[in-house]
Parts: sequence; structure tokens; C-alpha cells
Amino acid sequence: MRIVMIGTGYVGLVSGVCFSDFGHDVVCVDRDADKIAMLERGEVPIYEPGLDELLARNTAAGRLSFTTDLAGAMAGAGAVFIAVGTPTRRGEGHADLSYVFGAAEELARHLSGHTLVVTKSTVPVGTNREVARRIAAVAPKADVDVASNPEFLREGAAIEDFMRPDRVVVGVETERAEAVIRDIYRPLFLRETPMVVSDIESAEMIKYAANAFLATKITFMNEIADLCERTGADVQQVARGIGLDGRIGPKFLHPGPGYGGSCFPKDTAALARTGQEHNRPLRIVETVIAVNDARKRAMVDKVVEAMGERLAGRTLAVFGVTFKPNTDDMREAPALTIVPALIGQGASVRVCDPQGRKEGTALLPGVTWVDDPYEAAAGADGIVLITEWNAFRGLDLGRLHGAMRGDVLVDLRNVYQPGEARAAGFSYTSIGRA
Ligand SMILES: NC(=O)c1ccc[n+]([C@@H]2O[C@H](COP(=O)([O-])OP(=O)(O)OC[C@H]3O[C@@H](n4cnc5c(N)ncnc54)[C@H](O)[C@@H]3O)[C@@H](O)[C@H]2O)c1
Repeated sequence: MRIVMIGTGYVGLVSGVCFSDFGHDVVCVDRDADKIAMLERGEVPIYEPGLDELLARNTAAGRLSFTTDLAGAMAGAGAVFIAVGTPTRRGEGHADLSYVFGAAEELARHLSGHTLVVTKSTVPVGTNREVARRIAAVAPKADVDVASNPEFLREGAAIEDFMRPDRVVVGVETERAEAVIRDIYRPLFLRETPMVVSDIESAEMIKYAANAFLATKITFMNEIADLCERTGADVQQVARGIGLDGRIGPKFLHPGPGYGGSCFPKDTAALARTGQEHNRPLRIVETVIAVNDARKRAMVDKVVEAMGERLAGRTLAVFGVTFKPNTDDMREAPALTIVPALIGQGASVRVCDPQGRKEGTALLPGVTWVDDPYEAAAGADGIVLITEWNAFRGLDLGRLHGAMRGDVLVDLRNVYQPGEARAAGFSYTSIGRA
């Protein structure tokens, strides 16, 4: 099968590379010529573990190529995936669908033979129907089916998630469309991956409901953590105690500085907006959004309190600024709220992050980037651990403390045990532990 993937971001590139690894003939298209030039040289524009190797292997096998020329890519394609961004539209929370509709109208000009157009981007319910309508307006005679195939991969574990997903969700209207999708994902059925075949609206809704539920789980646990701090309970023990209940499950129960990233913030906002538009407000989701926004700001207060209410003239080492470990993605990262606020209150900030510098340089003006955590801590008054990269999980706390001027360690991911941190000399603050 010849597949065209429109958009080579975190989702499109991983999907395209993995489809080629399934044995399909894949052409990845992006209108960003610099990105395509990099990919043609075998360079991966994002940091995603294992992607460079898989890309090199499939390019060498002749199954994977990159271009800015959509017309050329479309010749003979059986399926075209739309994997462009759907960021929040400025001002009101709605998903900006201009890239999706732009791609649909563009691809419609180059259709020949039966083609399945699949939306992989996260799009509000009703979008695929509008995609079909716009394609028909440009190419009324084209032989086209549309399908919704939302993606659930996590950045940082994207290849594993794509190759071994919990499930594949597909919204279709025709047997022909279902057959093409089944053909594309055939290698996963050999591994007995469940496939949820639904109508198109349900597939669109499944993606938003899943992300909103996960964001709710995180936010719920963050509020429980705050209450633990006040009552003497330990949130780690509480998480284990409830997570072993099969109805709840152990994942997404880790308290922290609030969720960020390219998906949860924009998808919860878009879902809440959809609810308002249909006069069915989603009050739980709206509350989750508000609680999470407030949480990022509350983390600043936590640091200020740990530092004795004074940041002016003091130096802080910040460990981890990407929205989570194993990615270079900074979109909506809690660090983007926390770090500027610390600088605003007079602190000098040194940032250490294994992959954050490329994106972070423009987003965090005024910080000093340091590669080594011990060097970042040298002479500092405090350390704030925001993102739990492995590089920050096994630090020699005695050495770290010895390098510092002060003794404050604010651990927003509960990476360390209070006892071990205090034994190393730290005045230690974490989340949800008295
Ligand atoms: N990032 C994730 O972890 C994740 C996970 C699941 C779903 N999603 C969803 O997948 C979609 C893509 O997300 P992303 O993070 O990969 O986005 P991204 O911003 O990293 O990449 C989007 C790419 O599309 C390209 N593009 C835009 N319009 C184009 C056009 N008309 N023709 C060709 N290329 C075009 C852009 O140049 C860019 O390279 C979003 O809807 C997102 O919600 C993302």
C-alpha cells in the first residue's frame, strides 16, 4: 500500500516511519521545507528515542521518503493521512482546524482512483464530515472515503506506543474504508491488538474523552496531594492504595506540578468548548482546566515558601523544563509558568535539561543553560526539580548539597525520599508528603 502522511510533526513523523516499518510504501509530506531537508539528510528534527534508527532503516530499504511536493506524493496513493497540528485557536479554546481543512482542500486537488482520507490529527466531533464536504467541493467526482483514526501515542515512548498500542480506534462509514484501514494495520492484528471500529463521530469523541479523563485523573490526584500535605497523609502511599484497585488502576496517579504538553491542555479546552457549543457544558472538564492552571502558579508559591519568602538576589538551579522526560517538547510545560515567575521575583536561574535547550532558549529568556546538574547546583541557594528525567533520578545528593551555597531542594515530582534528602543536608519540599 502506498501511504501519504501529511504533516511530519511528533505524530505524523512517528506514524509515517512506523507504517513504513510495517512494510508499506510511505511518503511523508510537510510544507516546512527546512524540516523536509533535514529528514532527507537522515536527520530527525525532534527528539524521540529510537526514531532516528527506525527512520534510517526504512529509508535505506526504499520504503520511506520525504517531500514538500504533495502532488507528486499523491500519485498512486491508496491512503492519505492528515497529521497536521490542531492547536488552540486564539482566545476561546476551540481547536484551530485551519491546518486540517487546508490539507484536505490541498490533497483534494490531486486525487486519482479510490483514496481513503484518514484524519489522525485530534479533531472535534463533526470535523471529519466537514473534511469530506470540503474535499467534495474541490473534487466532486473523486472516489473518496473518509475515516477518523485518532492517535494515542505518548511523546517519549512514541514508537513503542505506535507498535504496541492498547487499541486502534477507527471511525468509518463504509466497509471499503474499514478494509483499507485493516490492511494498513495488519501487522498489529497479528499481535492481537484490539481494534475499535465505530462511526466517525464516536471515534472523534473517544480521543477527547480519553485525554480529558486522563487529565482529570492527574488533577484529582494533585488535589488529593495538597490535602495530604495538610493532613499528614502521604500521597505516594495513597496512590498505591487506590491504584491497586482494578477499577482505578495505578497509572496517572503521580502528583506533580500540573499537566502540560501538546495535548492535554488544548484537548481539554477544545472539549469544554464543544460542550458549551452544544449547550451541554462539561463542568468536570472545565474545573480540571481551572485547577490545573492554578496549580502551575501555586508551584511558584511553593518554591518561594521553601526559599523563605525571598528570591531576590538568590540563585536557583532548575532541573528539567520539558513538559515531561524523553522529549524536547516544551508546549504548555509547567516550567514555562514557573521559571519566568521565579526570575520575575528576582532569582537568577540556571537550567539543566537533557533536551530542552533547543526549544527552551527562545521560551525562557534570561536563564543560563548548564549541561551538568552538579555544575548547575554549584553555589546555588536552591534546586527546583520540575521534570523527572532519568538524569535527575539518581543524583548523589551529598555531592549536590556540598556544591551549593544554600540547602533547599524542591522536588515537584517526588523523585527523592524525604528521609534521604534530609540525611544529605537538604531542606526538602515535595508534593503531597508532610
Ligand atoms: N504530540 C503528541 O503527542 C500527540 C499525540 C496524539 C495526537 N496528537 C495530535 O496529532 C496532531 C499533530 O500533532 P503534532 O504534535 O505532531 O503536531 P506538530 O505541530 O508537531 O506537527 C504538525 C506538522 O504539520 C505540518 N503542516 C501543517 N499544515 C500542513 C500542510 N497543509 N501540509 C503539510 N504539512 C503541514 C507542520 O509544518 C508541522 O510540521 C494534533 O492534532 C495533535 O493533537 C498529538
